[in-house]
Amino acid sequence: MQSGYRFCASKILEMIKKNKTCLHPIRKLRLLIFFLVGMFSTLFAQHPTGYTSFKPGQEWLADDGLPIDCHGGNILYVDSLKTFFWYGEHYGNPRGAACYSSKDLYNWKNESVVLEKGEIEICERPKVIFDNVNKRYVMWFHYDGNRYSIAELGVAVSDKPIGPFKLKKHFRPNGHESRDIGLYTDAESSKAYIGYAADHVNRTIRMVELSGDYLDVTKNDVDVQAHCEGPGILKKGNTFYLLSSACTGWAPNPGTYYTAPSLMGPYENQGSPFIGDAGDNSFNSQPCYIFKIPGFRNAYLYMGDRWNGAGSTKSQYVFLPITITPEGKMEIHFYRDWDLSIFTPEKKK
Ligand code: GAL
Repeated sequence: MQSGYRFCASKILEMIKKNKTCLHPIRKLRLLIFFLVGMFSTLFAQHPTGYTSFKPGQEWLADDGLPIDCHGGNILYVDSLKTFFWYGEHYGNPRGAACYSSKDLYNWKNESVVLEKGEIEICERPKVIFDNVNKRYVMWFHYDGNRYSIAELGVAVSDKPIGPFKLKKHFRPNGHESRDIGLYTDAESSKAYIGYAADHVNRTIRMVELSGDYLDVTKNDVDVQAHCEGPGILKKGNTFYLLSSACTGWAPNPGTYYTAPSLMGPYENQGSPFIGDAGDNSFNSQPCYIFKIPGFRNAYLYMGDRWNGAGSTKSQYVFLPITITPEGKMEIHFYRDWDLSIFTPEKKK
């Protein structure tokens, strides 16, 4: 529609310029006004949001004026492009995994569906990682059937962050059931790991190291005895923090965090990090990822989904800052409206 408008407008402008029309000057003026109004509304429609903060649980529109439809996913920062890419479940048409891009984490451009669900019955919690050696983007996701009994990991690949991703394979990691997944990359070694809700219908979380090219799992795969879904992982100092939800389907529940001296455990249950969580439901959200925000010191972004009964185009997001206190406790406080100025910028090298 916008490009149709642009085409007509450019033709009209061309005619006016070349004075090829035999229109009355008043009609020419009207056409010019139509053109100018159209041009400004087109420009406005491309940047309708202008957000300067996060508003957890509230409406969040993308550049297309529609609610961001990108659930259960992760954010990847691509330094060479100075751009954040947000991947997640897309409930609109076509169903699959969506990608949005942003320069500031508040305003997002819809980059469209990058992996179409097609014949895959369940395609949930996509997580994308960049393979800097082979220069390709690898997506891992929860691959399943409508009854959630296939319980596999799916792997898809693209040479561009905005897809399209091509499904390579799907399988049970080392023979274990796998449903909700989290992703952690060690910045120093570039090794990547997937935490996955595993056997006996998510009775525990297993942590598995990926192969060097991120296309497979290795045998370094342990039951970390954490319970049980939506795992998010961060490392502060020498301590690993694993945040997870309980297992109540789409309904929110009290979250729990665990700490360990190594990513592979042993993990110790530390209770809920959600401070002042009156509903005892993780501020009505379920964790999907912890994003370490570049450019700030110890800036960890809690990414949670407010499913509102089930995943849908309008399920909202609860994005909040995660604090690790001087005593090493994880705390997540609720803010109705907050921005990145609460973090301390990293000193420029
Ligand atoms: C939740 C899970 C969601 C989705 C849902 C289906 O426990 O975290 O990702 O799979 O169950 O009921």
